[in-house]
Order: sequence, then structure tokens, then C-alpha cells
Amino acid sequence: MSGQISESKINEIRERTDIVELISQYVSLKHSGANHTGLCPFHSEKTPSFSVNSARQFFHCFGCGVGGDVFSFLMKTEGLVFPDAVRLLAERAGVELEEHIPTPEEEQRERQRERLYRVNEVAAAYFHQLLMEHPSGEPARQYMKLRGYGRKASGEYQIGYALDSWDGLRTHLEDQGLAADDARILGLLRPGKQDRGDYDLFRGRLIFPVYDLSGRIVAFAGRVLDDSKPKYINSPESPVYHKGRILFGLYQARQAMRQCGEVLLVEGYFDQLALYRAGFPQVVATCGTALTSDHAQLLKRYVQRVVLLFDQDAAGKKATFKAMTVLQEEGIPAAVIELPKGEDPDSFIQMAGKDAFRARLEKARSAMDLFMEDVLTEAGNGIEQKVRAAEQIVEQISKLSSELEQDLYLKELAQRSGIDLEQLKQVNRRIVGRVQQHKNTFSAPPVESYPLPEPPLPEERHEQHLQPAKESGSMPDWSRSEETLLCLLLQNHVSHKKILMAGGLALFNHQEARDVAEILLEKSTDSGLDLATLADELAPDKVRLLTALSLLDKGQFDEGVDEVFSGCLEGLQRELKKRQRQESIDKLRKLEQGGDTGTMKDANNLLKQFKNLK
Ligand code: UTP
Ligand code: MN
Repeated sequence: MSGQISESKINEIRERTDIVELISQYVSLKHSGANHTGLCPFHSEKTPSFSVNSARQFFHCFGCGVGGDVFSFLMKTEGLVFPDAVRLLAERAGVELEEHIPTPEEEQRERQRERLYRVNEVAAAYFHQLLMEHPSGEPARQYMKLRGYGRKASGEYQIGYALDSWDGLRTHLEDQGLAADDARILGLLRPGKQDRGDYDLFRGRLIFPVYDLSGRIVAFAGRVLDDSKPKYINSPESPVYHKGRILFGLYQARQAMRQCGEVLLVEGYFDQLALYRAGFPQVVATCGTALTSDHAQLLKRYVQRVVLLFDQDAAGKKATFKAMTVLQEEGIPAAVIELPKGEDPDSFIQMAGKDAFRARLEKARSAMDLFMEDVLTEAGNGIEQKVRAAEQIVEQISKLSSELEQDLYLKELAQRSGIDLEQLKQVNRRIVGRVQQHKNTFSAPPVESYPLPEPPLPEERHEQHLQPAKESGSMPDWSRSEETLLCLLLQNHVSHKKILMAGGLALFNHQEARDVAEILLEKSTDSGLDLATLADELAPDKVRLLTALSLLDKGQFDEGVDEVFSGCLEGLQRELKKRQRQESIDKLRKLEQGGDTGTMKDANNLLKQFKNLK
């Protein structure tokens, strides 16, 4: 293969590959808690110690210590080298690999994108600082407060405020030495008429940054603080922002989405904020645009179902059914939550509280069901209208990717409309046939996806992979106390401060433990450690250790975190003394063997130390 695969491609492929689905083709996995478990394909075992964590996209075997991500899994099971594993998964995930050396133009574009991200980042920091600190940010702070948000939420999303001025950002970017050209491409600055210079797009607005999947800021939305129009303005499309492919909040929501397998899709920025904060973190919003099939494909990487929460008016209903169709075409079932008229998720939570919302979420009904009811009700009882309505519904049903589902809904429709089931089935067949023909005529033949080999039978599997890969087969070199302490730290049971107070990195006796502790102290935040992101910057062996830790059973802390913590500290203290004793003994031996009398004093000192260590 010529050229190399870019880091971002590799991330994209990893993001797009469902590790549980991939591994399921080789190992029969059972769901248990946040993980899936099964018999390890890399060593022979009777009880499952092989674990897959879908939220973190890692696997690990507690039996033989093998672990890693989708690429390493495939490399090990199929005996592939890294580039081949990447290629195979790219094909499977439908990611195009540009396997060529970038042309100068492409390099230029890439450099431009990097500059654009940088400008967005500087702009976001500027807006945020205005909201958090600046005297002129007071109205925006008041506004946030009015809507129930304090500094924490503003900090988490890096929400900001744009001064009511024509050149606040422009001046700031100038001061930072950033090119106005780039800011213009991003739409942050607009060219003024005649020779009046550029002016700021966002003025006197609350600012929401919009993140991509890597956590880079690609766009902004700005809301007025009063009733003036337009209520929101959004960044225009740019080389880094395609609104049909970006979902507001996905960066923050994706872990929760993976964990619960569903996503709440809302229309408004504040709706996303409100649900996220109310304990429904699996929520994203479209950025002032209709749901696209790119959006649907994106969601499909994380969830099995989408719950739609659009406005309760006619336009909202239309948007709901349109989104339902888009989702259906990607094979994702859509459900709907109905809210009282005039409410959106944000206002509903404010008014009725989270429990009321949870109750509604539990009662979410299938979007198709609602559609059926809606269309039939509208049609009334006239025969002709009813038939037309039924046809419209069958048309919708025919778009379902599963025949079984089609069948179920046709039955439901027969019941509701009183139209004979066989008749409805016939209409369905006609429509499906028509669509099929259309597809055959107009689209290219389907591209064969890379045929993954059938999963081998268990016996063969063990024979094939009896010896675990050497480099990853060993368990980490650290003590039980160290491991538990790292675990406490990783799972946020003890604060960084507490560890630092107790001695920090010096607590750890083994280099490997110290390395991992250093990573944890440095990289983890209140919301934990984002392994998926860290995976790219850390050495694979570190990633493996962290994964192994993250998969350890939390039940071991049942006896109380504080006790476990002090137990660890005692254990470590003992280990430390033991090690120091050993060092003293070693030194004494050396001195003895050397027979050097001049070092008697040293020897005495060592003996003293040794006694103190007891
Ligand atoms: P809404 O008008 O329903 O506003 O627009 P909202 O989300 O409830 O806003 P708040 O609660 O009053 O702050 C729904 C979404 O449509 C897009 C935005 O994404 C908004 O969140 N929109 C709306 C625009 O892009 N521009 C507009 O002028 C209005
Ligand atoms: Mn609202």
C-alpha cells in the first residue's frame, strides 16, 4: 500500500465499527451490565473471562491478558498486519481510504482546515470568557440564570456570549494574529460594504459551540437574549461544517447513547441542554435543519432506536414523519414521545419535572403507529378517503427494511381501517415491486461487502489461537494494592486531590502502575476518562492497561470506598518498606562481598536504616 492512512481515518473507522457486532462474528457474547462477555478466542477456557466494553470500544481477557480495539482484535484473530486490518474494517464500515500521497492541494486544504479549527477554538474561548467574566456579559449571565443554568453548564458546553458590538471578535482575532480570511470562511466575520472592514456575525447573542466527533468546534449558534428575530443564527456551512452531518450534543452524548442503545432527538439547543442535565444524557439536536440520511447513519453507529421529540404542532408532526422515513430507510426504528401542546422538551422538564418526562419516555410509542393513527383520523370515515389513507400508510410501511415488521404493521392497519389484510398485502407487494424495479434500473449493482469469514467452531478456534500474542499476553507488573488504587482513581471513587495528598505518584512502587497513575491524574476529568480518545495519544500497552482496569469489577468496592482506600495505602506502605529493606540488604551484601573496610560507615548506616524500616 502506498501512502499512509491518516490518523483521522483510523479514528473514523474505529468510531464506525461496532466492536460488539464485530467480535460477535467470532465469539458468542452475552450481555452483562455495561459489558459483553464470552469465551476467549485467544486461549482455551471453560468459563468466560473475555469481556467487550461497547461504550469504550475495547475488549480484554482477564484470563490471558489480551486486549485492544477493533483493529487489534482483527489482527489477532485473522493474523493480519495493521494496515490490512484497517483496510478490511474500512470496507466493512463504508469508509473510503485515500490510499495515496496527498497532493499539494490536498495538503493545503488540510492545513486550511487546521487553521479553521484554530480560529473556532480561539473564538469559542473568547465568547466563553465574555460570558463567564466580562462585565458586559452580565445580561447573558442573567439570561442563563433565568433559564436555570449556572456556571457549570456554561463551562461544560463552553457556552459563550458575543458582545453587542460590530468588531469584538474581529479585534480579538486580529490581536491573536489570526487571519481574517479564515474567519470569513467560517462566517464568523462578514465583509462590510465598500471599504468598511469586516464585521462580526454574532452580536449580542448567547453562543453555543457545535462540536464534531473529535471534540473540535466546527460551528456556532447564537441566540438573542430577548424576543427579537431571528431567534437563532447559525454558522454557515464551511470546509469544517456540514450541518447535514453534525448533530449538536453528539460529542457529549455518544457514550450514554451506546450504553442505553437509544437516542433522544430534539429540535432545539436548549432542549438538548435541558434533557442532558435532567439525567437523559442520550440526547442530540439537529442544528436548525431536517434530519438527513447522513445523520441517521451517524446515529446508527451508536443506537438501535431513535426517540423523536419534535414540536407538537403541525410542522413538528410533519418533521417527525419525515425523520421517521429517513430513519426507516436506514433500518432504524423510530419512536415518538408526545408532549402537551405548546411544550418543547425544555419547557416540559421545567414545568413537569424529570420524573414526568421519564414516564413519557417509557411510554414512547412507535412512530409508525402514530403515523397510522394520524393519517386515518385525518381521513375520517369516507370510503374513498379511507382507501387513500390506507394506501399512503402502506407506502410508508413498504419502506420498512424488515419484512416481519411490514407484516405486523399491515395487520395493525387492517384492524384499524377495517380493510381486508390480503388487499393491503397486495398493495404492499405492488409498491415493493415498483421500488425494487426502480432500484434495479437506476442504481449501480450493490457493492459486495468484504466477506468476513464464518466464525470457526469453538474447538478449531482454540487450536488456531492457542498461544496468545506474546507482547500482550502478560498481566501488568503491579501489586494488588496498586491495582485497586488505580481502579478507585479511574472510576472516580477517590479524587485526584486525595491521591495527591496521600503522596501522589510516589505512592506507587511499580513503574507500570506509576505510569498509569500519571495518565489518570493528568487526563481524567470529573466525567471520567475518555478512553476512546486517549487511545490515539497513548502507547498501545498503556491503553491495554487502562482498558483492563476499566473493566474490573466494581463490586469489589462494596465494603466502602474509604476503607478500601486506606487499605490500599497501608498495603502500599508495607510494600514500600519491604522494597526498601530489600534494597538495603542488597547493598549490604555488595559491601560485604567487596570487603572494603572504608565503607564500614556506610554499612552501619544501612543497618540503621534497615532497622527503622521494620
Ligand atoms: P424553536 O423556535 O422551537 O426554539 O426552534 P427553541 O429551541 O425552543 O429555542 P428557545 O428554547 O426559545 O431558546 C427550534 C430550533 O430551530 C432552530 C434552532 O436549532 C432551534 O433550537 N432555529 C430556530 C434556528 O436555527 N433559527 C431560528 O431563528 C429559530
Ligand atoms: Mn424552547
